[in-house]
Amino acid sequence: MKLSIIGGQLSTKSQDYEILSSFCLTSGQSVSLEWIEGQYWLHSSNPKENPMTIEIDKELDRHLAYFKKSSIHKEVFARAIGVKSGIRPKVLDLTGGFLGDSLLLLSFGCEVTVLERHPVVSFLIKSALSNSRHPLIQQLHFQALDAQEYLSRFPNQDVIYFDPMFEDANEKTLPKKEMRIFRSLVGKDQDAREVWLRAHACGPKRLVVKRPRLSVFLGQDPDISFEGKATRYDVYLPKE
Ligand SMILES: C[S@@+](CC[C@H](N)C(=O)[O-])C[C@H]1O[C@@H](n2cnc3c(N)ncnc32)[C@H](O)[C@@H]1O
Repeated sequence: MKLSIIGGQLSTKSQDYEILSSFCLTSGQSVSLEWIEGQYWLHSSNPKENPMTIEIDKELDRHLAYFKKSSIHKEVFARAIGVKSGIRPKVLDLTGGFLGDSLLLLSFGCEVTVLERHPVVSFLIKSALSNSRHPLIQQLHFQALDAQEYLSRFPNQDVIYFDPMFEDANEKTLPKKEMRIFRSLVGKDQDAREVWLRAHACGPKRLVVKRPRLSVFLGQDPDISFEGKATRYDVYLPKE
């Protein structure tokens, strides 16, 4: 299986290149990355699917413009995280992905440490970060690491946020077209329950788990759940 890099400055002698090629070899997946507008984009092998990237500055500006007109306190995600007037918790986002939720958290005013273990997704995050000029990006700290490894080193956390790619029998809908390349690349996070156990054992002020609205709970029954149209945030609080 092959790695194709189209354009940009990724040297075949760099560590990133080695990591990406060894991923392609061992996983049997082909990955094609193209340099467009100053950063790498992920291409699908299916020509009908659009390439994907993380447009940090555009996305942050879009959120900030939205929150000029609409209150952050109305957002179920913000309420689940514990954002209140004058309170902006520090969040450890265990599952970076394409940074959608991390960027929302930044736009709420939270400081975010975000983890990602998948080599291709981590590479895309690094590429997007090096391209960002947004002042809010100073509040985002990225580590290309597995959540369990990070938590074993740094168990003391304020708020832990977890959004695994974990399906259960209640999920019947096909992912949106733009998410399909991502899903086929990352697969299902089969260890999500173990990660939940580890995060819960750390005893954070809040552990927030994002699930499709009708899905089963990932761990035990939550203390509170916040429901959006398609999403549910299960919140676990420390025991008294
Ligand atoms: C559903 S996606 C997260 C989407 C993200 N919340 C967003 O808004 O873009 C899950 C991501 O977390 C990563 N991931 C899953 N389990 C992980 C773990 N234990 N440690 C680090 N990253 C993990 C996967 O590789 C995948 O990229």
